[in-house]
Amino acid sequence: MRIMVVGGGGREHAVIKKLKENKKAEKIYALPGNGGIAFDAECVDIGAKEIEKIKDFAVRERIDYAVVTPDDPLVMGAVDELEKAGIKCFGPRKNAAIIEGSKVFAKNLMEKYGIPTAKYRTFDNEKAALEYLSGEKAPIVIKADGLALGKGVIIAETAEEARDAVKSIMRDKIFGESGNKVVIEEYLSGPEVSVLAFTDGKTIVPMVSSMDHKRACDGDTGLNTGGMGTVAPNPYYTEEVAKRCEEEIFIPTIRAMENEGRKFKGCLYFGLMITADGPKVIEYNCRFGDPETQVVLPLLKSDLLDTMIAVTEERLEETKVEFYDGAACCVVAASEGYPQKYETGFTVKADRAGDCEIYYAGVKKSGNELKTSGGRVLGVTAVAKSTEEAVKKAYKGIEKVEFANKYYRKDIGKKALEAEENR
Ligand code: AMP
Ligand code: GLY
Repeated sequence: MRIMVVGGGGREHAVIKKLKENKKAEKIYALPGNGGIAFDAECVDIGAKEIEKIKDFAVRERIDYAVVTPDDPLVMGAVDELEKAGIKCFGPRKNAAIIEGSKVFAKNLMEKYGIPTAKYRTFDNEKAALEYLSGEKAPIVIKADGLALGKGVIIAETAEEARDAVKSIMRDKIFGESGNKVVIEEYLSGPEVSVLAFTDGKTIVPMVSSMDHKRACDGDTGLNTGGMGTVAPNPYYTEEVAKRCEEEIFIPTIRAMENEGRKFKGCLYFGLMITADGPKVIEYNCRFGDPETQVVLPLLKSDLLDTMIAVTEERLEETKVEFYDGAACCVVAASEGYPQKYETGFTVKADRAGDCEIYYAGVKKSGNELKTSGGRVLGVTAVAKSTEEAVKKAYKGIEKVEFANKYYRKDIGKKALEAEENR
């Protein structure tokens, strides 16, 4: 099979490495991929949002199967366009990707179908939003409706911060058109769990749970980032929690989407918070998470390509999807200063990271060398029997990665290990 993966980050690298385990994957292209993905796939200089070009490439190169992983092309309708051209795809169509593309849509869906989530109101004008805030207490959460590179959420600690958040999203448009509408919602607390699930719209198969570390600095301080590291499984996702999630959240969500005429096929990501009242949905994503994928896929025992094709062909019910019993830890090496200002162009040496996997993100080829080209440079993933061993092994691996302004959190997995101890 001739396969094309749209995207170019650590997540796509993990997907490609796993797809390659299947002998049927004779040729894999990455659009655009990156300098490190180039070790495992042929990179093509077409951006993930250049839908026309992606479609033309797929037709010209007689692609048998396309995997679309980033949010932007999915929300823009890349899968619809590829399908129109006769290309089989993994990923939701535009009318289902809206579950991530519009937070107002997602919240209204949950309300209509009784799926547990934070109480909320939606607004399309600033004045009404500010009036509503005057009757609410802080902390309170303000979210821009549309995609905002994972940054469209402001947790306001005071009433003043909440008003400022509404003004900067709706008036100053700090997140662009994504801020034409806002969701204002109740602040929830509790541990967070990410669950990625394969679904063909009828059957849903949750993958092993994971824990992201979104803040830039140790102890969950500093700015929100795309994710500085992950561990899987997540100790807060107990069997009891898992059962409730399946019954109260996962199955109701795919049924709701089907009922709305928006059948979701692909990977559905549930960002959950385990509150005192039970699990609630913080967010849906219409795709694999990054860097969750870098710990979840290494634990997948079943074949990824076969599972994806079963999703596309709506045969998931009869497909066995199994995971290894062990644990995985991914530590992200970023450029110092990320997620704000940082320098790039430094030589990366990561070929000695022991028996860890390296998933490249912000790197490009320069002659025979790899140079840094982004904020998150790469992730080092270790798999082991226990979380404790996986964490140790990943840190050993990342110490061997070299580039001039390397920065990484030192406490990935710490919270998970503490939770395991207290269980
Ligand atoms: P998101 O971009 O939707 O993943 O949100 C970023 C982070 O904001 C989440 O991972 C949570 O830590 C936090 N968050 C989002 N919504 C809420 C909420 N209603 N209450 C408390 N924290 C929240
Ligand atoms: N790690 C969070 C996300 O992929 O959105």
